[in-house]
Amino acid sequence: MDHIPFFRARLLQWAAEHPRPMPWKGERDPYKIWLSEIILQQTRVEQGLPYYEKFVAAYPTVTDLALAPEDELFKLWEGLGYYSRARNLHFTAKYIATALDGRFPDTYDTIRALKGVGDYTAAAIASFAYDLPHAVLDGNVYRILARFFGIDMPTDTPAAKKEFTRLAQQVLDAERPAAFNQAIMDFGATHCTPQQPRCATCPMQPHCVAFQSGRVQELPIKSKKLIKKERYFCYFIFHYKGDTWVRKRTGKDIWHGLFDFPAMESSERPNWPESRTDMEQWVRTHLFQETTLDFQVTQVSKPYRQTLTHRQVAAIFVELDLQKELPVHLPAFSEVQRVSWADLKKNIAVPRLIDWYLQDKAGTLSLF
Ligand code: ADE
Repeated sequence: MDHIPFFRARLLQWAAEHPRPMPWKGERDPYKIWLSEIILQQTRVEQGLPYYEKFVAAYPTVTDLALAPEDELFKLWEGLGYYSRARNLHFTAKYIATALDGRFPDTYDTIRALKGVGDYTAAAIASFAYDLPHAVLDGNVYRILARFFGIDMPTDTPAAKKEFTRLAQQVLDAERPAAFNQAIMDFGATHCTPQQPRCATCPMQPHCVAFQSGRVQELPIKSKKLIKKERYFCYFIFHYKGDTWVRKRTGKDIWHGLFDFPAMESSERPNWPESRTDMEQWVRTHLFQETTLDFQVTQVSKPYRQTLTHRQVAAIFVELDLQKELPVHLPAFSEVQRVSWADLKKNIAVPRLIDWYLQDKAGTLSLF
């Protein structure tokens, strides 16, 4: 731990020499910092940036955000994924606007108590908005500290979290917490990267234990591989007089509050029919229960896949032309509602995978 002052000084010098402009840097409004940090959880800076701009423009204050209708907020969030973030954002905005008279909390503990705010985000807001001496600990910081100090303890355990939190707090420049926290994140994102870190030009290299002992590729260590739950969807996209049918998802999962199409779902890899004619037969039997409805399956898509932190999601999309309205009294279509394609595109937020499919389709067919 002798090299802490060295690490601190070199890191801050590196940051001064490598500015990385971002719209929330130097921002002191805790609301905007909170917004940027929630958007950047599980999202790359380049992807999050336009969302931050959109949100700040649409909701300049926490009260504006609190007053937004949830569906509108979800539509703005569309494409970012992990919608629980958007839900918590809204919940917390309403809480601050009403219970706290629109005043953002200004101590670490009161910030940490907000819904959707964990240790990392609380430290980021406390330091960036109020220059409070709380060190951020995210994936970047684990990696940099594990390498520089040569820590070979697996990082994905509660014991490691405690240990790294203590170390990060010790390393933090308590006189400049905002600058230090921003510097360490930027250094991790651009220099001490997971793969191919730029050790040759690293200012900390003379005292970096991982570099000096040839263990840069090895550190940090993770003990377990995450087991991902699988979910498979077969979505049915009905077409009738320029409209389609969607349903609002009400189950307690990551898509709660979003809209999707009527679907069959399973947690095991299913054997859905692949050809149009087999699918047509299957739909007639299972969805339409042998009613004499006139319809045609016009297309069955390739599988679309999405990998999330805890989930593996796959979906196929079946396009069907109807000659009559959808028989919404059938059990397969309980809770569906008819919408126009224009409305779907403009006002209705859908899960990411559906958005990808619709974007692909928009490129090949004039759906909208
Ligand atoms: N990721 C999360 N917060 C960040 C920030 N303030 N700057 C850069 N990357 C970040």
